[in-house]
Amino acid sequence: MNQSVKFWDKIADKYSKQPIVDEASYQKKLQITQEYFKPDMEVLEFGCGTGSTAIIHAPYVKHIKAIDFSSEMIEIAKGKVENRDISNVTFEQLTIEELEVEECSYDAVLGLNILHLLKNKEKIIAKVYKMLKPGGIFVTSTVCLGDKMKWFKIIAPIGKFFGLMPLVKVFTTKELLDSLIDIGFAIDHHWQPSNSQAVFKGLFIVAKKSK
Ligand SMILES: C[S@@+](CC[C@H](N)C(=O)[O-])C[C@H]1O[C@@H](n2cnc3c(N)ncnc32)[C@H](O)[C@@H]1O
Repeated sequence: MNQSVKFWDKIADKYSKQPIVDEASYQKKLQITQEYFKPDMEVLEFGCGTGSTAIIHAPYVKHIKAIDFSSEMIEIAKGKVENRDISNVTFEQLTIEELEVEECSYDAVLGLNILHLLKNKEKIIAKVYKMLKPGGIFVTSTVCLGDKMKWFKIIAPIGKFFGLMPLVKVFTTKELLDSLIDIGFAIDHHWQPSNSQAVFKGLFIVAKKSK
């Protein structure tokens, strides 16, 4: 089994019980995202974890397909909608790399706290661009360790080798924004929480595909 899948499977239960690190920033990101939503929107969330964000957004859109490669994360997510009146969220165990999707099929794609965990984020950004309808949005929150913690590049492979952390890629805010712009996205909104330990709280971006 892929070592990163193993890592996320192992910590899924603990992850689901952890309080949100910065509730105010999380709420602000939810609110900004919902300002873009419309009731007829088809949404994909990849790396959905235990599904909390998809469940919160569900009342504002038509349907959310939420995927994660960790079966343990997906099991917890499915448990959260069981016996509740939520019929427009579908959870599925799947990697974003393996997801088969038609061009121009989604109005919005969410990739929250995941781009820095991908082997090849450029490939996935291009995939997201293709699957979005013209004018569609890509909402991301990404830890850009390259801004202040370049040295993490040395630690990350060692931590992964010992199973202490998943695959973590180190890049700067500028590098991430450039990757989105190079593919064709326009940056509609970006915000970096500026309180303590801000680097771990994720650069929030809403990127738009041109019409
Ligand atoms: C840091 S957690 C973020 C979870 C959730 N998006 C959040 O913001 O709380 C990263 C999640 O991405 C999933 N993941 C990592 N790489 C993935 C991939 N290539 N395809 C699908 N899921 C992936 C992990 O299993 C994990 O649940």
